[in-house]
Amino acid sequence: MLIAPSILAANFGKLEEEIKAICECGCDLVHIDVMDGHFVPNLTIGPVVVESVAKASTKPLDIHLMVQNNNFFVDLFAPFKPKYISFHIEEEKHSNSLAQKIRNYGISPAIVLNPHTSLDSIYYLLEYIDMVLVMSVNPGFGGQKFISNTLDKIKELKDMLEVRNPNCLIEVDGGVSDENILELKKSGVDIAVAGSYIFSGDYKERIKTLRV
Ligand code: DX5
Ligand code: ZN
Repeated sequence: MLIAPSILAANFGKLEEEIKAICECGCDLVHIDVMDGHFVPNLTIGPVVVESVAKASTKPLDIHLMVQNNNFFVDLFAPFKPKYISFHIEEEKHSNSLAQKIRNYGISPAIVLNPHTSLDSIYYLLEYIDMVLVMSVNPGFGGQKFISNTLDKIKELKDMLEVRNPNCLIEVDGGVSDENILELKKSGVDIAVAGSYIFSGDYKERIKTLRV
């Protein structure tokens, strides 16, 4: 399983140092939460900061869009060449076209589902994307409690992917810690995002405990 620290929990006063530290401590991806104050009630990172993160990081970037105008933000962040750009199904009427647009930039498209959003909503999209990001908290803030029925959802998704797209990865985001990582792995998670758990301790040690 790959580990992607969410930099939302980093100290933004010394962001370059923080990015270098998590990369040196053995993370696999750097997860960037982009919030626009509309899709979610929080405002975070824009292109100026993402550019600095991209320069400091030795690991691929994983950009998680929590925005209303996905098209606009894809154009804004594509120049930083992230490995993934994920967008929410709840906010995209033309998910197939957007996935194709992301792929045309040479970036892997990923779809995100809020905790209450049914897997049916992405059934016919699965063959066009490289990753499904399953939210295990309501998006907007770090440090929330893991919603436990996410485990059932991930298992169902795994079965669905066997049929529709066995190469598609499963990522989980929100409330991930040493307490649920083993269950998540058993359910079929390929990439675990963790913010407050990693940044509230010794980074190397915390990343190591997530490698179950
Ligand atoms: C929530 C974000 C998450 C969040 C994870 O909207 O998408 O990436 O920062 O933080 P923790 O691990 O603290 O729940
Ligand atoms: Zn996220």
